[in-house]
Amino acid sequence: MDAILQGQVAVITGASGGLGEHFAKVLAEQGAAVALAARRLEKVEAIAGELAGQGHRAMALRLDVADAASIAPAFDEIEAALGPISILINNAGVGGAGMALDMTVEHFDETFAVNVRGPYFAAQAAAKLMLASGVADRGEGRIVNIASVAAQTNLPGLSAYCASKASVVMMTRVMAREWARRGISVNALGPGYILTDINAEWFETEGGAAQLKRFPRRRLMQNSDLDAALLMLAGPAASAITGQLFIIDDGQTLPGGG
Ligand SMILES: NC(=O)c1ccc[n+]([C@@H]2O[C@H](COP(=O)([O-])OP(=O)(O)OC[C@H]3O[C@@H](n4cnc5c(N)ncnc54)[C@H](OP(=O)(O)O)[C@@H]3O)[C@@H](O)[C@H]2O)c1
Repeated sequence: MDAILQGQVAVITGASGGLGEHFAKVLAEQGAAVALAARRLEKVEAIAGELAGQGHRAMALRLDVADAASIAPAFDEIEAALGPISILINNAGVGGAGMALDMTVEHFDETFAVNVRGPYFAAQAAAKLMLASGVADRGEGRIVNIASVAAQTNLPGLSAYCASKASVVMMTRVMAREWARRGISVNALGPGYILTDINAEWFETEGGAAQLKRFPRRRLMQNSDLDAALLMLAGPAASAITGQLFIIDDGQTLPGGG
């Protein structure tokens, strides 16, 4: 199969590990030039170096999405280096764990600053550039917001996280509507549980082990389980798909026992 993202430029936030690193590699393999952004510069530099060594166009930059004012300048830097941004993967996120009775204002605000405000203003910055550069005129603008099953499932101990991911879904729908005739498709991808730094500690606890046993297939997902949906939403197939949430969860949230 031909590389479906040849000529595209993708920004992946939170690309220093976990899902973001994987997404960057999948998009690069499909021909996109990739900009890997995260707070840990040495990590994104190493991954971008690995991709460049394989012949891909890749760059790394330091970006803290909680610092909303720094997002647009970072995206300008990416365009100057790689060309017009056509794909944004809004992936950076934090777990925001804590029972509602114990939640502090600081922890709640930090969760929303990274999981909601960051992606909101990253989408705004990317869309402005897509509109200015001609990417949107060609109908090639793609924004993929990484939500979660938590957007639709009540998960005790994760009230702030669940609320943040539900916000991501609604922001997806409204931005998709606002930009529906402007050549930018905005969608959300809602993964089930995949073992990464965000949940590694949890799955070592008794509660985590018990949760895993309740999943119909008794397993966590693999990063690669998201590839088909990611490429659908980041690529040409999404020209007629916008404002939707795609849950890819290996059946983890199917109700019922057995
Ligand atoms: N793993 C799962 O089961 C699962 C399921 C559903 C949804 N998700 C979502 O998938 C996304 C990726 O999570 P993950 O599982 O890959 O977790 P992870 O391994 O902990 O990765 C999180 C990434 O976000 C980055 N990040 C955190 N705060 C940031 C900030 N302020 N600015 C920029 N980058 C920041 C981290 O990089 P730095 O620390 O270097 O900044 C890291 O690269 C998140 O949005 C998460 O909610 C994960």
